[in-house]
This record gives sequence, structure tokens and C-alpha cells, in this order.
Amino acid sequence: MDFAFIIHPMNVNDIVTRFKGTKRLPREFVEKWFSRLPAFKYSKIEGIKSQSTGRTISGIFIGCPLTTEQMLSFPEHYVVQKIIKAGRVAEKAGAGIVGLGAMTSVVADAGITIAQQLKIPVTTGNSYTVAMAMEGTKEAAAKMGIDIAEAHVVVIGATGAIGAVCSHLVSRECKYLTLIARDRTKLDNLARSIMHQTGQAVKITNNLKKALKSAQIVITVTSSGGDIIQPEDLPPGCVVCDVARPRDVSLRVAGARKDVLVIEGGLVQVPGKVTTNLNLGYPPDVTLACIAETMILAMENRFESYTLGRSLTFEQVDEIYKLGEKHGFKLAGLRSFEKPVTAEEIRSIRDNAGHGASTAGIG
Ligand SMILES: NC(=O)c1ccc[n+]([C@@H]2O[C@H](COP(=O)([O-])OP(=O)(O)OC[C@H]3O[C@@H](n4cnc5c(N)ncnc54)[C@H](OP(=O)(O)O)[C@@H]3O)[C@@H](O)[C@H]2O)c1
Repeated sequence: MDFAFIIHPMNVNDIVTRFKGTKRLPREFVEKWFSRLPAFKYSKIEGIKSQSTGRTISGIFIGCPLTTEQMLSFPEHYVVQKIIKAGRVAEKAGAGIVGLGAMTSVVADAGITIAQQLKIPVTTGNSYTVAMAMEGTKEAAAKMGIDIAEAHVVVIGATGAIGAVCSHLVSRECKYLTLIARDRTKLDNLARSIMHQTGQAVKITNNLKKALKSAQIVITVTSSGGDIIQPEDLPPGCVVCDVARPRDVSLRVAGARKDVLVIEGGLVQVPGKVTTNLNLGYPPDVTLACIAETMILAMENRFESYTLGRSLTFEQVDEIYKLGEKHGFKLAGLRSFEKPVTAEEIRSIRDNAGHGASTAGIG
């Protein structure tokens, strides 16, 4: 067993889908019952094969029995202990490294305490997530005919572990940048740091709806628990890269807005003939970048706590990208709400938006 990755249900519906016997029970009861279960082995993942060395590795998904809402509302110490217990299941299974999925990488100090309590190294997967989110955003913008050098980019969740590095990186490429989060002091500090490093003056705000009105490219990566972007918030022709899990963009956007392109951020094509019983809504050889980071480290025998805490470096992002490339990991084609995006759909979105993307600056 080369690696393990800790997952958890996004919401109570995920529990009901997995445990069929709970279908007729009250949702509140199911959520409470589930949270009292011990962490458990969920599924193996096998057949990940390096394109450069030919080495094949395998891993295991470990279920941490808390929903997103419970992760965000239960006492922090309790949640961290639950994640540590899931990490111990990974240790016992013989994993060389364990990755933290979705909210398990967000709570408390983003993996630092968890790593201190485990005998195996831990990684949040955030470095590779940044690399893949940036690449996916640029590819989607190009397909929509948006020139990033002339565009207004909005980053939501800008002060977070992933958002801060994305904000720094995109500030070097775009014309206008607006950063959004709730805490204004942290936003202010981030804006100053970007100004210091790049000379780029960026706008900061808590007002998501207003900022989105003139956005052409949006990178959204909050820990809000989901659905903070509604159909009426987006201007025609814009591109949204939704990196958050649960997703920041409401599912309603898929049905109501045929003139915007929403892509799932951080999706990776895994080399090899991959098999797993875990259905994340993608084919078995497509996975989230945080999972891919754990795989890449295992493939490289880099059994070390690679990404922990909220201060990521550009060097980490660059290094893990190159290691991924070496073994054949790459951006999975664009996907939107769990489905691949075709060239025909892009054409249709551009037509529906009028002349593709708007060219407005910051309003
Ligand atoms: N796709 C992937 O492969 C992948 C990999 C890893 C993580 N993720 C996901 O990425 C997201 C962020 O992870 P992270 O580690 O960067 O988290 P983080 O460090 O906790 O940062 C979260 C950011 O979101 C902001 N935020 C929270 N609630 C908000 C709201 N209601 N409105 C606006 N901003 C809000 C926070 O600032 P304020 O508190 O000041 O608002 C902060 O800037 C999570 O959803 C995680 O599950 C995805």
C-alpha cells in the first residue's frame, strides 16, 4: 500500500447513497448516526502507473465520518481528533503517506496538528491543486476567447491556502484583479503583499455579487460549505473555475446559465489503468489534484509532509507540477458539473453570450 487519502461525505445525501439501508430514515438521524461511526476503509485505488519509470502504485481511500456541515460546526478539537483517527487507519493499512481531502485539509491549522500526531507523513494536496487550477483556468479562458492579459479576474476565497497563491500567480498575468473573502484585514495584507511583489494594485471587497458583475475570469476556492455563486451573479461570457469542495457554484447555474463556462478546478488525468470503487463523479482515471499530489509523492518515494498549513510557496507548486509531468499526470480535459465540456458546448456558450467574453474593466 503506497498511499492513503482521507475523504468525507459532502452532505447527508452522500451517506444515503453509500448506505442504502438509511434511505427511509430521517436525514438528521442518519447524519448523527454516521458521525458516531469509526473511520473506515472505503475503497482501494489501483493501477496508477508512471509513464517514466513504469512503476505501479496503489492506495486506499479512508472515510472520515463527518459531513461538511459537521466539519465546519463541531468543535475544532473534536473534528481534528476524528481526522487523526482516520489517519491511524491509514497507518495500520501500511500507507507510506496520507493525503487530506476536502474539509479535512481546511479545518484548524490545515494539517499541521494532524501530521504531528501521526507516524506517517501528511499532505493537503494544495500545492498541486494550485498548479492545476491555474492551468485549467487559463485553458478555459483561452477556449472562451478571453485574453487574460486584458481581463478582470476575481478570486473568491483569496486569502486561503490555495486562494492566496492563486491570487499572487494570477496578479502577474491579468489586467485587473479583485480579491474576495470575509476578513478585510487578511484581504488588506494579501493586497499589500501582491503590490510589494508585483507592483499590481488590486481591489479587495466582501461584496461578491457586486464584484462578479464585471468579472471575466473567476477562480473560486472558499471553505464556505458551498453554493455561494448563484445564476444571477454571473455576467454573460465569463469563465468560472470552481476549485472548492463542496462546490462554490450552485448546481442551478448548470441549468439556468447557458452563456457562462463553469469548470471544475483541479481535475487531473492519472496515468495507468486505474481502478477504484470510489465514485467522485469522474472516470476512475480522473481525480482531484489533492489526491493526485498524494499519488505523485508516493510515486517519487517522497514520503514527507509536503504541503501543510496555509503558507504555500511558489517553489512547492512548481516542483510538484514538474514531478507530476514527469510521471504522466496532466490536466484532465475541461469538465463542468461532472461532465466533459465539448468544443461544441464552448461554441454554444460563446454564441449565447453574444460575442464571447465581455471586455469590460472593473465597474
Ligand atoms: N479541487 C481540489 O482538488 C481541492 C484540493 C484541496 C482543497 N480543495 C477545496 O478548496 C477549498 C479551499 O481550501 P483551502 O485549504 O484554501 O481553505 P482555507 O485556507 O480555509 O481558505 C478558505 C478561504 O475561503 C474564504 N471564505 C470562507 N467562507 C467564505 C464565504 N462565505 N465567502 C467568501 N469567502 C469565504 C476564507 O476567508 P474568510 O474566512 O475571511 O472569508 C479563505 O480565504 C475548500 O473547499 C477545499 O475543500 C479542493
